[in-house]
Amino acid sequence: MLCPSVLFLRVLLCQPWSASIPRSLRAVKGSCVVIPCTFNYPGPKRPSSHIRAIWHRDGKETFYDSDHSSNGRADLVGDRGEKNCSLQINGIRTEDAKEFTFRVEIMNLDSYSFTNSKVAIKVEAVPEISCLEAPCPKEITENVTVTVTCTTSHTCPAAPPGLTWNGAQGPSTVQHRPLQDGLWEVSSTLTFTPSYTDHGKSLTCQVIYPEGKYTENSIELHVRYAPRNLKLSTPLKPQEGKLISLECTVESWPLSNLTWIKGGEVLNQSTINSLALKLMNVTRGDNGEYFCVAENQLGRVNKTFLLQVECKYT
Ligand SMILES: *[C@@H]1O[C@H](CO)[C@@H](O)[C@H](O)[C@H]1NC(C)=O
Ligand SMILES: *[C@@H]1O[C@H](CO)[C@@H](O)[C@H](O)[C@H]1NC(C)=O
Ligand SMILES: *[C@@H]1O[C@H](CO)[C@@H](O)[C@H](O)[C@H]1NC(C)=O
Ligand SMILES: *[C@@H]1O[C@H](CO)[C@@H](O)[C@H](O)[C@H]1NC(C)=O
Ligand SMILES: *[C@@H]1O[C@H](CO)[C@@H](O)[C@H](O)[C@H]1NC(C)=O
Ligand SMILES: *[C@@H]1O[C@H](CO)[C@@H](O)[C@H](O)[C@H]1NC(C)=O
Repeated sequence: MLCPSVLFLRVLLCQPWSASIPRSLRAVKGSCVVIPCTFNYPGPKRPSSHIRAIWHRDGKETFYDSDHSSNGRADLVGDRGEKNCSLQINGIRTEDAKEFTFRVEIMNLDSYSFTNSKVAIKVEAVPEISCLEAPCPKEITENVTVTVTCTTSHTCPAAPPGLTWNGAQGPSTVQHRPLQDGLWEVSSTLTFTPSYTDHGKSLTCQVIYPEGKYTENSIELHVRYAPRNLKLSTPLKPQEGKLISLECTVESWPLSNLTWIKGGEVLNQSTINSLALKLMNVTRGDNGEYFCVAENQLGRVNKTFLLQVECKYT
């Protein structure tokens, strides 16, 4: 030892071996995490080339070694010549949820394992992506603009994940916000105007990490829209005494009330967006205009069928 054995001189002349590391750190699976770390040793500052930096995972396993040319997912982002031992771990995995300790070997001085300063990495599951608006706008209306927010947390402010939307077109804004314990929040707010064509489609928010990994979450869109595309089947030439069958269909959400009407009289009715009208043994007395009317809370449409029964005998 270079330090004098007399205690007060030792305190005066020697900065003791010490490392400053957080006790615990939260990391998100697939993201990266930086363990902030500084260390100290007795005597004057040594150059990086005289300092071997080693990180152990779970006590014994060497996770990083500055003497190794390749260190997998680990990268010493701190300058060890400046007593900075910060370690970045990329592509966090479930098995990284362990204790990490730092060890230093200094040429012509000594080696030291800072086993009293351990950092416990806590790996979070796949980020929870949700709509901030409560309740989440699953039930939306055509032509009415809505705002949906997707939020996730991460631990990598230097390279935060990107958020992208799929399933809807509209402007989006991204916000970054620090939480506690090195955790950050990123959110993307999408504003879009749904159309009836969006009904039943899913709106997906995708979180893409710099390493190319991603997670995503989706909601199914239920777009309320007025009845549209009302169709009537055209029957064969209606002949006296024959059966006439007319089919009326429509598209809408919620489902429309469909009604067959003739001269103000309701002939048939349904609430399943399709409705038949069967006229048995038709006569010329059945001639006239038949209306199929579709209506829900958002609108009303109709179509007319003109019945002209051909005489069997003239
Ligand atoms: C240590 O290095 C990291 C990565 O370069 C840096 O973010 C951090 O500020 C440094 N810490 C100190 C105390 O200089
Ligand atoms: C929404 O806009 C379209 C196109 O302008 C229109 O045809 C439709 O009736 C509108 N829907 C509602 C419920 O206002
Ligand atoms: C009424 O509509 C239903 C369902 O489409 C159909 O089964 C039935 O035959 C129709 N009745 C008449 C009298 O048209
Ligand atoms: C159709 O009407 C004619 C004349 O009224 C009648 O003779 C015949 O039995 C009817 N047919 C059916 C299937 O009701
Ligand atoms: C549909 O028909 C039912 C029964 O006739 C009625 O109670 C309901 O209010 C109707 N809805 C609309 C949107 O017209
Ligand atoms: C059918 O639609 C036309 C045009 O909107 C309207 O004038 C008429 O009253 C409607 N007929 C019925 C039976 O709803």
